[in-house]
Amino acid sequence: MKFIEWNDNLSVKIESIDDEHKILIGMINEFYDNIKEQSQTDLIAGLIKKMREYSVFHFNTEESYMRLYDYPGYGEHKNEHDAFISKVVDLEERFNKGGLIISLEVTTFLKNWLKSHINKTDKKYTEFFISKGIK
Ligand code: FEO
Repeated sequence: MKFIEWNDNLSVKIESIDDEHKILIGMINEFYDNIKEQSQTDLIAGLIKKMREYSVFHFNTEESYMRLYDYPGYGEHKNEHDAFISKVVDLEERFNKGGLIISLEVTTFLKNWLKSHINKTDKKYTEFFISKGIK
């Protein structure tokens, strides 16, 4: 069984954005599998880097649409994105310096953050984005 499963409850009803969320979910699962297997630190470091880079890419997708169409909740939404990236950058720095053992707790944070952000924050833009023709 996967650590985090995609299901329709996580859909924001915009296929291109759901696809990006599915990629992030896949990365969290890959991360979890490697923690469980106690994989080598350079492999885990690579996964953290990949997750940070893809998160930046994904958040930029959403924020670009928000700026383009003057989405009213832009600032608040961007603050959540920025806080998440700061957290991942901090984890990455601590891990790369050898000061952090990546645990289930860290992986659970990533899972819970993503689910909560999609459900409580991303879903707020669904109607607005659909009204702008975003698919
Ligand atoms: Fe899908 Fe706001 O991140």
